[in-house]
Amino acid sequence: MTDHAPWWQAATAYQIYPRSFCDSDGDGIGDIPGIISKLDHLADLGIGFVWLSPVYASPMADNGYDISDYRDIAPEFGTLADMDRLIAEAKARGIGIVMDLVVNHSSDEHEWFRQARESRDNPYRDYYVWRDPAPGGGAPNDLQSNFGGPAWSYDERTGQYYLHLFDRKQPDLNWQNPELRRAIYDMMNWWLDRGVAGFRMDVIDLIGKDPDAGIIADGPDLHPFLREMHDATLKGRDVVTVGEAWSATTEGALKYSGREAGELSMVFQFAHIVQGWDEKHGKWKPKPFDLVGLKRVLTEWQVALAQDGWNSLFWSNHDLPRAVSKYGDDGRFRVVSAKMLATVLHMMKGTPYIYQGEEIGMTNIRFTDISQFRDIETLNFHRIQTAAGVTPGDFLAGANSNGRDNARTPMQWDASDQAGFTTGEPWIEVNPNHATINVAADRADPDGIIAHYRELAGLRRALPVMRHGDYTPYLEDHPKLMAYARRLDDAQISVLANFTGETVSADVPEGLAVSGRAISANYPGRDALKGTVELRPYEAVAILAE
Ligand code: NOJ
Repeated sequence: MTDHAPWWQAATAYQIYPRSFCDSDGDGIGDIPGIISKLDHLADLGIGFVWLSPVYASPMADNGYDISDYRDIAPEFGTLADMDRLIAEAKARGIGIVMDLVVNHSSDEHEWFRQARESRDNPYRDYYVWRDPAPGGGAPNDLQSNFGGPAWSYDERTGQYYLHLFDRKQPDLNWQNPELRRAIYDMMNWWLDRGVAGFRMDVIDLIGKDPDAGIIADGPDLHPFLREMHDATLKGRDVVTVGEAWSATTEGALKYSGREAGELSMVFQFAHIVQGWDEKHGKWKPKPFDLVGLKRVLTEWQVALAQDGWNSLFWSNHDLPRAVSKYGDDGRFRVVSAKMLATVLHMMKGTPYIYQGEEIGMTNIRFTDISQFRDIETLNFHRIQTAAGVTPGDFLAGANSNGRDNARTPMQWDASDQAGFTTGEPWIEVNPNHATINVAADRADPDGIIAHYRELAGLRRALPVMRHGDYTPYLEDHPKLMAYARRLDDAQISVLANFTGETVSADVPEGLAVSGRAISANYPGRDALKGTVELRPYEAVAILAE
């Protein structure tokens, strides 16, 4: 199994949100030439593939998750020639470029939709989901958009409603139409032939929906469509595919990525994220951190996908808060806690994803006024929730804790005015803490966070036990510590981590006990886990015995 394992199981992934990564031309928006100029940073980190958030032509209502031409690049990001150069330059450094495939919906400015709304008998009409008004007038049913408000918008000209599970500028594509599916597969092949290393598939669990029956996620046609897509595009190509699937359960994950499934390499699953949300108000209401709950979910996924399927490992992405602010300490223990989170995540079984800036421990930004936010979701919910009586202060607290703009403030390259991100006015404020938290400063420190991540990527390539070993949890009910062991043949890695800013003393459980070599640690001087140990604030250690 280990000999024939696919390349992406040994790879460390890195997500780039292009708008906020590096701006080469001073317009305040990151771009592809900017990314190319930073490829050495990624190569040095040991990255195997990049998940590139959308760079396609787009009116940018949702920062590119609303595509108006799947075969072109947004001018603020560059040109197709820049994209080809990015693919080639990345490849020369051993890095694959994975495109974000946003095909549950397009932009309302896509030519398909422009045509579709011309008339009911336009050849593109059936590329989208249209319904008559309800018998008494109004929307066909009460489906709600993920960005708040009704999921149906009325089109005056043709007298019907169209479906949009996100913003009204993001009409849902009609996957029931074989012609639409063919057009998407052709477009995917066009990108694959250009040399991309695969796709990250945006909200892919929604494409099999049956909106009339109110079935949205995990609909009846989801897996047949994905198998068809696989056969038409991915089959026989050595690429990686990761499907964003908020609805995925462990059983469901195997339907996508199990050996027999023949669909995707892995899903991006969110059970560990959602367990930290308020039951009633979701992510908008901060909830105290519950390590036992988090471990329970992580373990459930490690165990369920032990023999088949494959996990994505991540703390953060462009829709989530910063890892160190959410799960660590973004004040006094920022550096050690960032390293602790890295060790705990990367030592699990799966492919780890680093979200840009995580490798220097970037933190949430604390906006003080709604005018500082840029995210369409946050702004929509602000309107809806304040109208429903939530106080501006409460809304701000929620948005500052879990809102998407936390992850979207510009990458902090150095201590200069705009953090080395742009020479112009950035499209969203740079976090003032860039004066101390930045790539240049971290690199200058031999004990920096980058060095820690680089080490983890190297270990992943070098150690079969890290990639393929079994996973056994320990201290599952401990509210402050996380512990697990990985085992393969005679090799064992034991991981023990303190998720608090206090020193915690614990008796090492028998199966976890080990002496050997610390291969990943954020404090010096521990090469065994035995008897009673005192773990320093946010200490994490992974010890290898062979
Ligand atoms: C999920 C993406 O990650 C998010 O950023 C986007 O807003 C929605 N899908 C809609 O495309």
